[in-house]
Amino acid sequence: MFAFLKIPLHFSKLSRNKQNVLVSRKCPLFVKHCARNCFHSARQPRKTLKLEAKEEQASDICVSFFGAGYVGLVSSVCLADYCKKVYCLDTDKEKISRLRNLEVPIYEPLLEEKLRRNYESRRLIFLSEDFELAVRESHIVFIAVGTPSRRGDGHADLSYVFSVAESIAEMLPSGYTLIVIKSTVPIGTCSKVQELIKAKTKSSKVQFDVVSNPEFLRQGSAVDNFLHPDRVVIGGCGPMKSLSRTLMETLYSPFVKDKETLLFTSWEEAEMIKYASNAFLATKIQFTNEIADFCQLVNANISVVTRAIGLDERIGHHYLQPGPGFGGSCLPKDIRALVRSAQEYNYSMRLLESVIEGNEVRKRRIAQWIASLASESCIEEDLGTFLHGHHTTHTTTVNIYGKKFGILGLTFKANTDDLRDSPAIFVVQELLSLGARVSVYDPQVKAESVTKYFAAFQGFPLDICDDSYTACQEAEVIAILTEWEEFRDLDWNRLHEVVSRHVIVDTRNLLEPDVISDKGFRYYSVGRPPYFPKNIDKQAKNCEMLPTQNNFQQSKNL
Ligand code: UDX
Ligand code: UDX
Repeated sequence: MFAFLKIPLHFSKLSRNKQNVLVSRKCPLFVKHCARNCFHSARQPRKTLKLEAKEEQASDICVSFFGAGYVGLVSSVCLADYCKKVYCLDTDKEKISRLRNLEVPIYEPLLEEKLRRNYESRRLIFLSEDFELAVRESHIVFIAVGTPSRRGDGHADLSYVFSVAESIAEMLPSGYTLIVIKSTVPIGTCSKVQELIKAKTKSSKVQFDVVSNPEFLRQGSAVDNFLHPDRVVIGGCGPMKSLSRTLMETLYSPFVKDKETLLFTSWEEAEMIKYASNAFLATKIQFTNEIADFCQLVNANISVVTRAIGLDERIGHHYLQPGPGFGGSCLPKDIRALVRSAQEYNYSMRLLESVIEGNEVRKRRIAQWIASLASESCIEEDLGTFLHGHHTTHTTTVNIYGKKFGILGLTFKANTDDLRDSPAIFVVQELLSLGARVSVYDPQVKAESVTKYFAAFQGFPLDICDDSYTACQEAEVIAILTEWEEFRDLDWNRLHEVVSRHVIVDTRNLLEPDVISDKGFRYYSVGRPPYFPKNIDKQAKNCEMLPTQNNFQQSKNL
């Protein structure tokens, strides 16, 4: 039914302020809306269409998204509020059929209601096949498929991006289509995709541009981030600069209030902006974790320190929260890919290389610290706090065989169900490999979704529980690994009854130390002095601080 023929466009000279441009008209339904401006019936040759740069213009545009993951799905749903039609395409048939039943496969606040509204109004369409229909009807086609870390070398795996680009090339109808790369890709990928599509498109009637439009969505607030972007980056508007530029300006006009935040750059700059942004965030977190560790050595409180340095607007308050290390589907893989691609140019990014290594060591030491707090062999004389030793790759040999740990939080951060590269998963794997019994509770994690992360721990004593109290039953140590708000409101008196030892490790500094210690728990956190119930004697305090660098070495030789 939708076999449209696309006739090459007629161009009229663009005038910036009037924003008149020529765009194809692919959707027969659309013609009805603005008959005064254009031809209709899909088989009719297209005529120019006047577009005034007012918000409703986005409503003329049809868009396709390849990849209904966190980025593709959130972007599709939000754009469907304004665009004429948005096709959300994914090869994962099960995901698409769930979406068609309005089952949202990811936990993302505000997404469900928006998805339902746009799907029921038919502005949002989910497809797991017949992608050609969508491409033929779309003015703009986004590529938002995964770019996971390539096994073994940390480069970004671009096989999905290239295979989708090839299939788009085969589906491009005559006329103009704008292809936008939203997946996070190494510098130079856009030009490769342009070459690839050029090589694949035989007919001269097929015109296209490739632009880069990196996303900066944070999971847990992705919908709000999309609707209120700090900046929208559009790189490399190709030869037909004006048309692709105006299409992207029109598309984002509902979201970009101030023109300053709509940045037009080259391909390479846009690709670098994405990597540099994530690498900087990761560096700020690793920096904060190192300062937090030193605070513990000198009995200072990291929260006091970060509040003060954050008041300097050159530093800012964001991303100064210490924790068990940074995780998730983006920061770890993107900083690795950036460092690897620089090494291809024989350029060593020493700072970022140490951020990567520092983060890996941090996760290991947090696991060692939590383990040591339940171990019989707590080594008093060397236990002060420690300086962060980058070269400590071995796990400790504390004896925690059969010890029970209650783990609260498994996702890589709060307000998401994403377990990818989660520091909490790493800590639980370490405790299991040391022979511990581990019970976990996470508000957004069901047993079936963790299996693949513990495939190597089949038969190990790991329970995924439905609530915090069950997870902490008979626990020697309770460890908070994800900063879910609900952990603040736990009934600590009830927990005091169910645990076998009263030790809490709060790797997210989520709780009020004195409140918890007043409930009878020895409370440890990151970069803050430990808090003990008033009846605990001084001596006991020292034996449970974070292990120092050299005691880490020492414990390794035991
Ligand atoms: C992705 C990229 O991984 C990330 O680098 C970028 O920053 C944003 O987009 P995300 O949305 O989290 O991140 O990816 P993911 O959740 O893995 O979703 C990718 C989707 O693409 C999956 O649903 C997958 O089924 C789909 N896909 C993948 C296709 O439809 N076709 C393919 O060929 C490959
Ligand atoms: C990140 C970027 O923020 C986003 O712009 C990009 O588009 C995708 O990658 P996200 O993966 O959702 O977003 O995670 P983010 O909120 O940045 O957190 C990353 C990790 O750092 C999490 O493990 C989080 O717990 C940790 N973190 C974050 C800290 O430890 N301290 C902080 O202050 C902030």
